[in-house]
Amino acid sequence: MTVAELYEALEYGPAPEAAGPAIDWLERHGPRFRNFVGGRWLEPHAGEYFDTLNPATGQTLGELPQSDQVDVDRAVESARAAADAWAGLSGHVRARYLYALARQVQKHSRLLAVLETLDNGKTIRETRDIDIPLVARHFYYHAGWAQLMDSEFPDLEPVGVVGQIIPWNFPLLMLAWKVAPALALGNTVVLKPAEFTSLTALALAEIAAEIGLPAGVLNIITGDGRTGEILVNSDVDKIAFTGSTEVGRAIRRATAGTGKRLSLELGGKSPFVVFDDADLDSVVEGVVDAIWFNQGQVCCAGSRLLVQESVEETLLARLRRRMETLRIGDPLDKSVDIGAIVAPVQLQRIQGLVEQGVAEGATMWQPSWACPTEGYFYPPTLFTDVSPSATIAQVEIFGPVLVSMTFRNPSEAVALANNTRYGLAASVWSENINLALDIARQVKAGSVWINCTNMFDAASGFGGYRESGFGREGGREGLFEYLKARDSGLPVQPSEPESEPSALEGAEESERHDGEPETPPRSGLPPIDRTPKQYIGGKQTRPDSGYSMEVRDAAGRHLGEVGAGNRKDIRDAVEAAHKAAGWAWSTAHARAQILYYVAENLSARREEFARRIVDQLGLSDGDRRLFHSALDEVDASVGRLFTFAAWADKYDGEVHQTPYRNMTIAVNEPVGVLGIVAPNEPPLLGFITPVAAAIAMGNTVVVIPSESHPLCATDLYQVFDTSDLPAGVVNIVTGLHQDVLPVLAQHDDVDGIWCWGTPEETSQVERDSAGNMKRTWTHHAAFGWLRLDHTLAAEFLREATQVKNIWTPYGE
Ligand code: NAI
Repeated sequence: MTVAELYEALEYGPAPEAAGPAIDWLERHGPRFRNFVGGRWLEPHAGEYFDTLNPATGQTLGELPQSDQVDVDRAVESARAAADAWAGLSGHVRARYLYALARQVQKHSRLLAVLETLDNGKTIRETRDIDIPLVARHFYYHAGWAQLMDSEFPDLEPVGVVGQIIPWNFPLLMLAWKVAPALALGNTVVLKPAEFTSLTALALAEIAAEIGLPAGVLNIITGDGRTGEILVNSDVDKIAFTGSTEVGRAIRRATAGTGKRLSLELGGKSPFVVFDDADLDSVVEGVVDAIWFNQGQVCCAGSRLLVQESVEETLLARLRRRMETLRIGDPLDKSVDIGAIVAPVQLQRIQGLVEQGVAEGATMWQPSWACPTEGYFYPPTLFTDVSPSATIAQVEIFGPVLVSMTFRNPSEAVALANNTRYGLAASVWSENINLALDIARQVKAGSVWINCTNMFDAASGFGGYRESGFGREGGREGLFEYLKARDSGLPVQPSEPESEPSALEGAEESERHDGEPETPPRSGLPPIDRTPKQYIGGKQTRPDSGYSMEVRDAAGRHLGEVGAGNRKDIRDAVEAAHKAAGWAWSTAHARAQILYYVAENLSARREEFARRIVDQLGLSDGDRRLFHSALDEVDASVGRLFTFAAWADKYDGEVHQTPYRNMTIAVNEPVGVLGIVAPNEPPLLGFITPVAAAIAMGNTVVVIPSESHPLCATDLYQVFDTSDLPAGVVNIVTGLHQDVLPVLAQHDDVDGIWCWGTPEETSQVERDSAGNMKRTWTHHAAFGWLRLDHTLAAEFLREATQVKNIWTPYGE
């Protein structure tokens, strides 16, 4: 045999990582593990336990507490008791604790890596080189934010007690993603790891005790979904969840109307888009990382390969060749690429979906080698001849299964890439940077990797668009999930006006109405009837119902009628808002110009709008002071338009400092179509403020104006019409909330909804939003309409946008 032949035939020898220290750890702490609550190890109240297994062997590693209501309550009480003292520490002191956690994770890195591999079945190569280093990185990075919190966020404070529920695919890493920012910013935590993989969370609890983290700051309780459900319904201030979209949806409904903050990181079906000029050998390695990393049990796995038709054959041939060389087996073996599937139930789910794919007519290919028979293994699998609507092209398989489809040109690629209800991540492969960036902007996803895939770092936010959830983890953008506006103790509705009274007021006063239904014209002729309509797609339209509803002032006097909107009007308005999506691509400068123009035209009709306000609020005519305050409202509205016009081209993204040769560009993108349920009062300012913020950022909106005082809003469309606002950017549907609000909240083509309403209305909006997991921003208490300080303006801007991180490597 020649040396060359030897190289060809050379087999990998076994290179197992020693499991001894991790086995010792298990023996020292097990077989029965306990919860970590209030700095102590507690047995479960009901004495119930369940087994946790090594998926590579099927053997039991220990028994975990099945925590019940009493256990959860104890943990939440401990976190609550610790909250004030922890939040009261200086950022520097908290930074020291986080720094200590990071150091300890590094010192025990091999133990944690082996434990994770034993518990989860993922390869030691991944736990050792990816998971655990990133865990340490998250604690270091957020130690930095703890240090900087006082200077960077003086107006914000911690949310309080946070319940965190994490999945099994990156057990310790998901813990770090959630615990590090929460603790850094002064929150206390109750975390429930996934039932399949709780061991490293308990090991981290041990580390927390070792470094002297104050008791109750971090509590870890184990259990299955029942424990998670109890935690969701417990007395916490926020829930942060990562897991399936189905459970995320249930949590959305369960937290609706409770005032609990919520962030959800859910499933995905991420596209991996390959253009014909891509470096195909790199693409093959990219696919390996995209879908066979962690056995494909990755929420952002590149599970849909979209290839330009002309290179499909070449790429798939190379890919099959590479698949033959992947090594599956003992995850503790350092030369193994693919480890075990986490649990039998997950294996069955993968098998079931693959069978369905075959039954639906797709062609399945797997390498010629066989999987180990002991433990839960599944081979890398490639599907071709897949129709875009096939189950396997739409449903998250969460296994090592790739579906491949083709496209002809860039617009087809974008259409296919976005042909999913998810929007977590995407990979784009092309040597043409212009094309790659163009596609990156058009794909709806929270992370886009250009010529790379599955890149993560604490400095860059991660999270979804659409049904992949909302909120970000990592980066500056992720911090706001764990911060809220500092309670200043001041009333939110100050009475002082924002501007000086107008010189015109005296003159206007003398022309005030006399309280009759309409001001009698001086001619003595009857008034010309004014019929405010719906404003949809830039057109004034009659309500579909053919009904009008009467508008009265507070004294019950008739003021006029507006259309009684219904389901069809809302649908038409949403459709019109979608048609106007080009607004997002107009330049920020152009959007600003239009907002200034709206302000100019509103200002020109200042007194008219002030009179409308006075009429609707039923304020007595002779009261000069009330007319002044109406003028103030108009002036403040003009000011709002200026403020958000100013922000339009200044709400910049960031370039994150990730530790790779990479430009990680965080772009603020519009949410899409936003539904806005405006407050009843102030009728003009409460309409203008959210609309200005939303459209300044490139959203298009469907607004339900004040239910009782809608006439300012219907007067406004004349202002919009004369201000070059493109049709469909702002759509107005008047009507009774009970008729239109649920339709808007349930509409699957609405991407986010803001609601200022009664507690019942806001809770209904939150519950109904679960259908397509649209983002919500709801308020049922007094709101600081008149004083838009920097903190509140920033919140509007954040709510009007979602961050997309575009990773662009450089260098040859
Ligand atoms: P899951 O969503 O049921 O579990 C995630 C976490 O939520 C676990 O800690 C679980 O105990 C908890 N949980 C379950 N039901 C709950 C409830 N009603 N209330 C509160 N917490 C609850 O995910 P599972 O069953 O482990 O996996 C099922 C599928 O979900 C996978 O096949 C995959 O498609 C998807 N998944 C997605 C993940 C992601 O990161 N996007 C992670 C894990 C699963």
